[in-house]
Amino acid sequence: MTSVKIEIGQECNGCGICVRICPARAFTVIEQKAVLSGICSFACDHCAAACPQQAITTDLFEAETFNFSSFTQKPASPVPGTLSELVKLMRARRSCRLYQDRAVSRQILTDLVKIAITAPSGTNSQKWTFSIIDNRQGVIEFGSKIAAYYQKLNRLAEKKWLRKLLKICGQPKLDHYYEEYYDSISEGLDLWYEKNEDRLFHGASAVILIGARPEASCPREDALLATQNILLAAENMGLGTCLIGFAVEAMHRDHKIQATLKIPAAETIYSVITLGYPEFTFKRPAQRRRIAINWIN
Ligand SMILES: Cc1cc2nc3c(=O)[nH]c(=O)nc-3n(C[C@H](O)[C@H](O)[C@H](O)COP(=O)(O)O)c2cc1C
Ligand code: SF4
Ligand code: SF4
Repeated sequence: MTSVKIEIGQECNGCGICVRICPARAFTVIEQKAVLSGICSFACDHCAAACPQQAITTDLFEAETFNFSSFTQKPASPVPGTLSELVKLMRARRSCRLYQDRAVSRQILTDLVKIAITAPSGTNSQKWTFSIIDNRQGVIEFGSKIAAYYQKLNRLAEKKWLRKLLKICGQPKLDHYYEEYYDSISEGLDLWYEKNEDRLFHGASAVILIGARPEASCPREDALLATQNILLAAENMGLGTCLIGFAVEAMHRDHKIQATLKIPAAETIYSVITLGYPEFTFKRPAQRRRIAINWIN
């Protein structure tokens, strides 16, 4: 459990909002003053956020975390925009696979990380990690390691006897990989090695790797929620992004890749996001297939 320091100041007027809002029922009002009578087991910061007197302080955040460099924020407003604008942004985000040869500044990348961590995290553990490659050369070097992994995998998958043997032994993954991905990966590798064409990271000038430390209660979920925040914020900043699942898979299978990036072995990477200025903007928002909802009555 995250240990949290909670202080209640003199401004408290005993309104009791903290008593009701605290999911751990950690507050009691005695003689018109709130006191901490229980254990802060959720570490959610909701008491401080809801107290109308701003009487509660917690050590769950640092004031400078949300000082942004690339934009200014109006004083806190509970409704940041219309729903229609929000959905427009969500639909405008498409995966970018054609980037300009233009770097993304560290200020912008830092702001994106700050925006990422507005995401919820299991037990508010905030054990997510962000590793950033901010230059094209670094992205190419990372890509070379991923390409080398798939080159090895393709060589294995070419062996028909091995695929069949593994399948008979109840391990059909290599055979499935061969059927589904071998051809397109082979093509991508030929382009990478022979024509310097980047089918993996699509010419991006930056990559953000989002992971989580093992102490997190829901590491994958935390990292992926932070990821989506980055995708949306980047879209709003005029940046293109694309998730690269092939890189995540390679890093899970070959731990040396993570070591060469100097990312501690204890962390697990759950998303690899390419970023850069897009070569063109999409004229049509995201379309999706019809979805059937399973209403449970
Ligand atoms: C988990 C995940 C992994 C993905 N991996 C890749 C990838 O390796 N390479 C790639 O070009 N796109 C990748 N994508 C992007 C998807 O292809 C894309 O999101 C999907 O086609 C929908 O298109 P849109 O993002 O433009 O709306 C991935 C997306 C997700 C959610
Ligand atoms: S919400 Fe704030 S003002 Fe109200 S009782 Fe709790 S600490 Fe006091
Ligand atoms: S941080 Fe959350 S769980 Fe802890 S005391 Fe405040 S409201 Fe309760």
